[in-house]
This record gives sequence, structure tokens and C-alpha cells, in this order.
Amino acid sequence: MIIERQEDVTQAVLAVMERTTDPRLREIMVSLVSHLHAFVRDVRLTEQEFQAATAILNEIGQATTDTHNEMVLMSGSLGVSTLVCLLNNGDGGATETRQNLLGPFWRMDSPRVDNGGSIVRSQTPGPPLFVSARVQDRDGDPVGGAEVDVWHSSPVGLYEHQDADQAPMNLRGKLVTDEAGRFWFRTVKMAGYPIPTDAVVGRLLKAQNRHPFRPAHLHVLIFKEGYKTLISQIYAPDDPHLDTDVQFGVTRATIGDFLRHDEPHPDDPGTGTPWYSLECTFTLEPGAARLPRPPIT
Ligand SMILES: [Fe+2]
Repeated sequence: MIIERQEDVTQAVLAVMERTTDPRLREIMVSLVSHLHAFVRDVRLTEQEFQAATAILNEIGQATTDTHNEMVLMSGSLGVSTLVCLLNNGDGGATETRQNLLGPFWRMDSPRVDNGGSIVRSQTPGPPLFVSARVQDRDGDPVGGAEVDVWHSSPVGLYEHQDADQAPMNLRGKLVTDEAGRFWFRTVKMAGYPIPTDAVVGRLLKAQNRHPFRPAHLHVLIFKEGYKTLISQIYAPDDPHLDTDVQFGVTRATIGDFLRHDEPHPDDPGTGTPWYSLECTFTLEPGAARLPRPPIT
């Protein structure tokens, strides 16, 4: 079609999109073009802004490496990651879900840890934290034999791969639930941390006077055949950035019951005070057990 005026562009492109063979891809492309063209009209995008936008998208790709994923940071910073998560879990909002963001720092091959063991692999000063959790199905029955990856930042807010002072795989581990669906381990209380701000996302935050912090959280990934893989984060309620998470990840159901204890630990008097405990329950939904693509290696 020969384009006579600006309105024709959208019609011409949509006519092409409609010829996409795969029905789902067709639906996505038709909607994408409709919204994208409407957006350009809405903000009356200038030529300079368009050139800047294409440069930004290129830069997001170029800033992404084996240990840094700028696109994941941008998706989170725009709230898209949480929106996709909530639309696809908990029956689209009808039931509570602890499904949450994978984040950019999951690694595939965490070392195995026995229940009751520690995931602290090198000297990591900080208050001890005892985590005790239960995995159940929708009927409340225990799910034994589930593989559980846990990982988190240190008490100064750094993941092991970002910190020369930590041993490889420090504060990461893979546990297996027992017959009662339980897993438990010892670690140190994590801190919140700023997301990397040296590329596009950092400039966006600055332009919007936003801080770069995520509230302290424990990452959990629960894998068991016959259930949808549960990817969760449990947030510390005492974190000052709990309600201003730069990645918009904190949902009501993911705020954890972290308890501070100032008395000696009953089973382990050698544990200093204060120490913390966290008890939580994870409910698996029916679905396909699928591991995500690791954002870093
Ligand atoms: Fe994290």
C-alpha cells in the first residue's frame, strides 16, 4: 500500500502483521504495533527523541554481559516484571501467590546443603539468621523431595560474585525438602542493596530522582516435577526501602516474618545476639516444572 498520510502507516503495518502464521505471535504483533503507534502519536515523538530511543535500546543490549543483565534491570525498573508475574500466578490475582521476580543473580549450580546446614562458606560478619520453611501443595499437603535453591546478598549488600571478600557460592545453596515438606538452614541476615547504576537504568533513576535500592530479601526457587516452579523473594519488613523497591517487587504476600531475638539461641547457645529467625510456607501450584534461563553464569 502506498502511504498517503500518517494514519495510513498503522493500517499498512497492521495488514502485514495480520499475515503472521503463528496465531499467538500474530496476536502479540498486532497488539504491539497498535500500542506502539498509539504511543508515538500520544507523546508526539520527535525525530531526536526517536534517535535517542534507538540508541538507548542498543545500549541496553551492549551493557549486558555474562555477569550483568541491563534488560532485566530495566524491566524491573518499569514494573513490567512484577506485572507479568502477577498476571501469570495466583489465578491472575484471585489467590495469593508468593511467586516473585527471579532477579539478575540466580546461578544454576548452587552447591548442595543438608537441612540444618549453613550456606555461609567464608567469614561473613553479620547477625545469624535461621530459616525454616515448609513447601505444600494447594491442599496443604507437604511436598517432599522438592529441590530448593536459596541465595541472597551479604550483610553489606553484595552477592558473592560481586565481592572479592566472599568465597565462590557464598550465601547460595541447594536443599531438598524432607517428607514433611520442610527445609531449613542457617545463614546471616542479608542487607538491601543498590542495583547497578552505571548504564541506562542508572540514568533513568537519576532523571526521576529515584534511589537505586532493593529492600533486603531472600531468594528461593522451588523445583519439583508436577508443579509449576516457584520463584520467590521473601522481604525483610524492617528494611527502610520496603515500600519503595526500585524494582517494584514487594507484594503483600512476600513480606516475611523475620523475627529478631535478643535472648540466647535455645539450641545453639554459641550463637551471638541478636539473631534472627524466619519461618515461611510456600504453596506450589499445579503446572510444568521448568527452570528459567540463568541470567548470569
Ligand atoms: Fe536479590
